[in-house]
Formats: sequence, structure tokens, C-alpha cells
Amino acid sequence: MKGIILAGGSGTRLHPLTLVVSKQLLPIYDKPMVYYPLSVLMQAGIKEVLLISTPSDIHNFERLLGDGSKFGIRIEYKVQPSPDGLAQAFILGADFIGDDSVALVLGDNIFHGAGFSDLLERAVQKVEKDHVAVVFGNYVKDPERYGVATFNKQGNVRSIEEKPENPNSNYAVVGLYFYPNSVIKIAKGLQPSKRGELEITAVNQYYLKEECLDMQILSRGFAWLDTGTHEALTEATEFVKAVEKRTGLKISCLEEIALMQKWISPEELQLQVKDLKGDYYDYIKQVVLRIKK
Ligand code: TTP
Repeated sequence: MKGIILAGGSGTRLHPLTLVVSKQLLPIYDKPMVYYPLSVLMQAGIKEVLLISTPSDIHNFERLLGDGSKFGIRIEYKVQPSPDGLAQAFILGADFIGDDSVALVLGDNIFHGAGFSDLLERAVQKVEKDHVAVVFGNYVKDPERYGVATFNKQGNVRSIEEKPENPNSNYAVVGLYFYPNSVIKIAKGLQPSKRGELEITAVNQYYLKEECLDMQILSRGFAWLDTGTHEALTEATEFVKAVEKRTGLKISCLEEIALMQKWISPEELQLQVKDLKGDYYDYIKQVVLRIKK
């Protein structure tokens, strides 16, 4: 399975913060925002990643993440000329995806919770074995801001609607989607919505109609944070800081994940961070020492 991070958009709700810096490069406590969605793909076992961003921001992502080799993965880059919708990722990424299945994660979504890696691995297996789409629902107090799912008595998805004025449920579809290869063809067949975007909700509605959509509900203790407003951005930083301070473990430390996945060796990583300073790299040095013991 391949992975795509969609890190473009205009970030208008965060102006003036995002007038000259991409939203997904803003700090969330001790690392740039894009580390968090990239960590999700890596935890899902995905080693080939396409990062999509705006013409003016793409080079900054390249400067930050390079070709991915420092995390034991491969990262390619693609420009989205204008923010024409989430589903455009599959059209822009068609060559990159090739014949493979694909996971899409939004560059401003943060996930944290027990058992997440297992959940991700199961999603990958399900898509590859059953050729169905896998998406996740999360209970929120403001569902009208998202794609909203309703369920029948058996707990199966009945409908998905994009930003409904009067939502019939509190379950939002989160910014992480797993699809079989057919998603490219589906995206190419979409017409722009009333707001002029190729909607991911239209893709999900297609799979739902074909009875090929699996929606998993994230459990109550699970944290899904989106970072689109000043308030949400600050809350995300406070959340990461609180969890990291309490546990002594870092959330979404890409080098640590690469080490756990055995995509880089402790020796390689030790060499990589030897001369790097600051709390983030001190943590990595500790992790390496612990593993080598
Ligand atoms: P949104 O939060 O819908 O939009 P935005 O980031 O442009 O912010 P605002 O509403 O404040 O103007 O986007 C969700 C994520 O998807 C975010 O990471 C940006 C990204 N995105 C793209 O990369 N391309 C697109 O065409 C769209 C619509 C969003």
C-alpha cells in the first residue's frame, strides 16, 4: 500500500499565521504538524509516501523531510496548483499509486490512542484482502464541520453527508482513508461539488452505494485532533505536551517509529543524530541507547 499526505489548502482560518508559512509546517509542541500524519502512515507500515502541497510550500516540505531516507522510507512530492478538493489527491497521485492500494491522511490531522498501530494494520489488511474502503468515525460535538455518518440499527453505515446543516448524528468521518486501487477511477469520474471541490465524501458515498465501505468507530479514549483554528492549534500543542510530559514518551517521533519498524538500525540512527541538539534529539539518543542495551 502507498500513502498520500495532503498538505496544501489555504489555511484561511489560521491567518495571519499561515500567510507565509504552510499550516502543516506550524509547530505542534516539539515538532512540525506534518510529522503527525506522516507517523500515521509509517505506523500503518507504509514506506512509500507522496506529499502533496501548494506551489509555494512544497519546497519547504522537501527541505524538512528530504527523500525520506532518514526515516527509512521514500518520500515523493507533487504540487496541487489550487485547493480543488481532497479527492484530487488520487488524480494527482495516480502515477505514484500505480496498481497499488492507497491510504490518504490529511496533513493537519493528529491521532493518538492505545492500539492505533493494530487498528491501522488491520485496515491495510482489509483493503488489500477484501478490496473495500476503510474509513473511521469519531464522536464530535460539532459534526456540521465534517463529513457526517449515520448508522442503521445493526450499526452499519446508512449515509454519509458533507457538512450537513442539521446533522443526524455526531459521528464525523476523520481525515484518514484507506482505499483499493479503484479510487483513482472513482476520483477521475467525480464532478466538482457546489463549493467547487472534488469531495472525499463523494468517494465514500460511491463505496457505500457499492456496499464496499467499512467504517470503524474510534473508541472514546481515542484522541483525534484537527488543527484548523487558533484554538484547536493551541489545544493540540497542550495535548501533546501533557501526554509527553506524563509518559516520558514522544508522540509521532518519526525516527523512533522507523527504528521500531526496523527500517533503520540503531547504529544508523545514532550516527544521524550524533551532532544534533535539543530535547527532540536528546530523546532519540535515549531511545537508541535503550534499544542497544
Ligand atoms: P481544510 O481544513 O478543509 O482547508 P484549509 O486547510 O485550506 O483551511 P481553511 O478552511 O482554514 O482555509 O483542509 C483540510 C486539509 O486538507 C488541510 O490539511 C489542507 C488540505 N487540503 C489540501 O491539501 N488540498 C485541498 O484541495 C483541500 C480542500 C484541502
